[in-house]
Amino acid sequence: MEIAMKTTAIILAGGKGSRMNADIPKQYIKLFGKPLLYYTMMAFQESCVDEIVVVTGNSKIKYDFAGNSIEGREADFIAERDYCKRLASDCRLDKVRSFADGGAERYNSVMNGLKCVSPDTDVVLVHDGARPCIEPALIDRCVADVTEFGSGVVAVPAKDTIKVVGADGYVTDTPDRSSLWQIQTPQGFLYSELMDAYGRLGQSIDEGCELKITDDAMVMEQFGKRGVHITMGSYTNIKATTREDLEILKIFLKRC
Ligand code: C5P
Repeated sequence: MEIAMKTTAIILAGGKGSRMNADIPKQYIKLFGKPLLYYTMMAFQESCVDEIVVVTGNSKIKYDFAGNSIEGREADFIAERDYCKRLASDCRLDKVRSFADGGAERYNSVMNGLKCVSPDTDVVLVHDGARPCIEPALIDRCVADVTEFGSGVVAVPAKDTIKVVGADGYVTDTPDRSSLWQIQTPQGFLYSELMDAYGRLGQSIDEGCELKITDDAMVMEQFGKRGVHITMGSYTNIKATTREDLEILKIFLKRC
């Protein structure tokens, strides 16, 4: 008898997105009238995921989704969390169940999100809110890999040659391209294992270790008890980071 695994997605929208140089955090930038975060949340709503936790920052954003604004009124600028709540209710995203506060670093935001995950969850997926072209089928594939291999970290083979470059501007190494992958999100793990690894990360930080953590797979690689498995991703699953990404996203989102 197959036992259903309860799955929760943590969608990260707690960053400021300073490399975008915009006046609002990048996940709230609108394309085709809707914030990037809308497309991201909708993909998870349409996937096999059971519940969604959204991690938000603390700035104020003007809410004018789908004609719900009263132009120019101060009251339209609402806290990010309220913005996301309204967005979820206006768009009937009923899988969005709870909200957490963003932290100083991405991993702090994930830690805060993990605290809001229902205790009966089996699988947790962590996803960048600023990655709106994620498709429900890829989310489902990621969950299936967690069930089969214990983890599913979405990635694509590197197309370019990647070099390691020193602070002096000189190349120090050229790793074999055939073994290099560009890591994306979602990144899925068994909830108990991810909690355990993040607990160990917290301990290391408390003990004064300085770690540069840029994704959840890194936390599992350093503090988890087993290898991290890749899920074949998509070259359209890009993250909004700089201005030109928005132009590319327009093309990919138009196809959805
Ligand atoms: O900055 P970066 O592009 O790596 O951010 C990836 C995702 O993580 C974004 O959706 C951003 O909102 C989120 N994030 C966060 N808390 C932070 C930093 C980033 O939730 N402190």
